[in-house]
Amino acid sequence: MKQFEKRITVGVLIMLIYLPSLAEDIRLSPPQFQNDVSLYEALKNRRSERSFSEKELSLQQLSDLLWAAAGVNRPDSEKRTAPTAHNDQEIDIYVALKTGLYLHNAKDHILVFIHANDIRSKTGKQKFTETAPVNLIYVADYDKMKGDEESKKFYSATDSGFISQNVYLYCAAEGLATVVRGWFDRKELAAEMNLRPEQHIILAQTV
Ligand SMILES: Cc1cc2nc3c(=O)[nH]c(=O)nc-3n(C[C@H](O)[C@H](O)[C@H](O)COP(=O)(O)O)c2cc1C
Repeated sequence: MKQFEKRITVGVLIMLIYLPSLAEDIRLSPPQFQNDVSLYEALKNRRSERSFSEKELSLQQLSDLLWAAAGVNRPDSEKRTAPTAHNDQEIDIYVALKTGLYLHNAKDHILVFIHANDIRSKTGKQKFTETAPVNLIYVADYDKMKGDEESKKFYSATDSGFISQNVYLYCAAEGLATVVRGWFDRKELAAEMNLRPEQHIILAQTV
């Protein structure tokens, strides 16, 4: 066998060994904030950026990011770092990575594997979404909400805003770039994510 063919065979074998492991949930670590940045510093540095490195976040950074976003900060009551109207906790955070789409299960602090498609480019109409390592998608589950349609629309928008600002402050403290985004094709993205009709995409946020 020629050297080139041998290399391809070895490459395919390695892919076959590693591919199944990508189609798995990712167990996140407990929050472990290394950068002891003051709230003042974080607020001073909070900003939207539209230029992103392709460098992956470490697992600890991803864990901290999602805990900051809407993690459980009071295990006794299972309440979260971000408030929600009536404590409905209706905003699910989906995480679009190169390796696929995941859903953050805040209670168990796990990324639940949804599918292996790289849908980062579908999370926004701006070029950087294609290659930035993380795109968060804030999805309101109306089934979890009380009240009429109008109040569900209003509160899911406000509740996503709190999560987004938590992510902004975490990124400011950690020296990561981020921007919250409303410019994407909702219908196309919902189809890529296999959402139910009661699930409404509110915003996306690139990190
Ligand atoms: C609801 C909402 C939607 C936004 N959508 C986008 C977007 O689609 N693309 C984008 O580049 N920035 C978007 N932004 C970011 C704003 O443009 C940005 O916050 C504003 O220019 C102020 O800049 P700053 O965040 O650095 O203070 C959005 C902000 C909010 C609050």
